[in-house]
Amino acid sequence: MISVKNKKLAAWIEEVRALCKPDSVYLSDGSQEEYDRLVQEMVDAGMATPLNPEKRPGCYLFRSHPSDVARAESRTFIASKNKEDAGPTNNWVDPDALKAEMTALYDGCMKGRTMYVIPFSMGPIGSPISKIGVEISDSPYVVINMRIMTRIGTAVLDTLGEDGDFVRCLHSVGKPLAAGEKDEGWPCIPNVDEKFISHFPEDRMIWSIGSGYGGNALLGKKCFALRIAGVQARDEGWLAEHMLILKLTNIQGEVYYVCGAFPSACGKTNLAMLEPVFPGWKVETIGDDIAWMKFGKDGRLYAINPESGFFGVAPGTSNQSNPNAMKTIAKNTIFTNVGLTDDGDVWWEGIGTDAPEHLIDWQGNDWTPGCGRPAAHANARFTAPAAQCPVIGEEWEDPAGVPISAILIGGRRQSTIPLVNESLDWNHGIFLGSIMGSEITTADITDKVGQVRRDPFAMLPFMGYHMGDYLKHWIDIGKKTDADKLPKIFFVNWFRKNDQGKFIWPGFGDNSRVLKWITERIAGKAAAVSTPIGNMPTADAIDISGTNVSAEDMAELLKVDKDAWLAEIESIKANYKSYGDRLPKELEQELAKLEERLAS
Ligand code: OXD
Ligand code: MN
Repeated sequence: MISVKNKKLAAWIEEVRALCKPDSVYLSDGSQEEYDRLVQEMVDAGMATPLNPEKRPGCYLFRSHPSDVARAESRTFIASKNKEDAGPTNNWVDPDALKAEMTALYDGCMKGRTMYVIPFSMGPIGSPISKIGVEISDSPYVVINMRIMTRIGTAVLDTLGEDGDFVRCLHSVGKPLAAGEKDEGWPCIPNVDEKFISHFPEDRMIWSIGSGYGGNALLGKKCFALRIAGVQARDEGWLAEHMLILKLTNIQGEVYYVCGAFPSACGKTNLAMLEPVFPGWKVETIGDDIAWMKFGKDGRLYAINPESGFFGVAPGTSNQSNPNAMKTIAKNTIFTNVGLTDDGDVWWEGIGTDAPEHLIDWQGNDWTPGCGRPAAHANARFTAPAAQCPVIGEEWEDPAGVPISAILIGGRRQSTIPLVNESLDWNHGIFLGSIMGSEITTADITDKVGQVRRDPFAMLPFMGYHMGDYLKHWIDIGKKTDADKLPKIFFVNWFRKNDQGKFIWPGFGDNSRVLKWITERIAGKAAAVSTPIGNMPTADAIDISGTNVSAEDMAELLKVDKDAWLAEIESIKANYKSYGDRLPKELEQELAKLEERLAS
């Protein structure tokens, strides 16, 4: 028996123990000794492979089940009391029915396993912006990942005290073991339709079963820090967002903190760790995926990174795309579903070195170049401590957060959306955030190729309530302070293509050229052209010296294509319709104003 002082937690642990029937219960203290011990147990059980300590000290490789490799969006539920409160973008299930169904699944689900109790803090322990959760899980892989991604253990329990509140996060891989039975490989429920990642917003509670991977299992990240915290933020007047946070210092030593909302796989981690092309300029990382923002006493929005690690996509990460990420993952990193080289290192597609002649692929099979299979799964990940990032900002754990000057928003758009466009005011910025999205490719839904999937503020997969109410919450935030204290909102697009289908903007470190213009706008130093869609750079405002971007490319990147925008308006109207009467009237007005400006 373990004992904890917090009465609600003690009662909950007992309730879950009685339901899930584990062989034993273990309270995580969050220590290095505990981490090392759990890793060793997994190595001994054949679940983890230590990497070559000469090449990757303190690093381990895991291979998941081939059915359990990504977030299961079709099995992610928002079980609010009223169906309407989940909105048109979420899977809703009646909470009572869901609890009954899942309780039956949880009954005895931890037999033969240890039930780990993991107290965790999202954000620096004790920060007024931070929140506490407790994850109960039967996966030691979850414990070690949570130790990197969040702050876990005894210090969190101490902060929770006897009466503190916490978000209840219950997780099981859903694979009880019979007496004497051992795991063969990665335990989970292989049939995706039997997995559940459920959110009960009114109860501030998360129940997940059947998956051991990423956001389905590390419940502090998407489930808590975005979906449940989003509901808390709405109720308490702050923002829980799918945003990176970076610190930019220019050659004069002036500092700007910038948040950026981009959908998954749009390079948030790369942007957060960017190496500017301008001598004397510096970008430092505060966070790469999630920002929690609250008003400070001075009326400005202050952001913290609620996480303490990076759960980054490995394929495509290289010394060219993100040298700082490569340095971050040189040691003490958990790799999942990447290739294993014969000398005990990792390899993946796009790592920037030639494929070795032989390796073991993410499914544990022999692999040779040209064999027709990828060595790493496309969603293979690294879990690495943020403190190891060579460009981590010294204030990344400041409990007060950092004051935000600008918010970038952007999706993957081949056309229409220019390289950068400054919103006219707060509400116009929220309008731009509401219409962001990406063109659907063949990898998504084949009969809709080319259509834009709207992904407001990159929150589509991470919304804990009605998207229309969420946009209204953004509008309301703008009313809580003076307009000049609010961050300026910029719509960016790194993904424009020319008629031949080639990207015309180099991206990566060259995005610092756009960041420079943005900071000059904030400082009131750069001119802008007023256009129907917002304020845009003059033709020569963005420094492209040393790139192979031509003047024609630049004109194309900064063009306001009226016909394309008129077509865009029709598509926005169709999307807005889906929000019904929960579409904020301010956004309807912004759309009408855009239509007028385009017509005049
Ligand atoms: C992530 C995602 O893993 O957005 O961060 O999918
Ligand atoms: Mn993300």
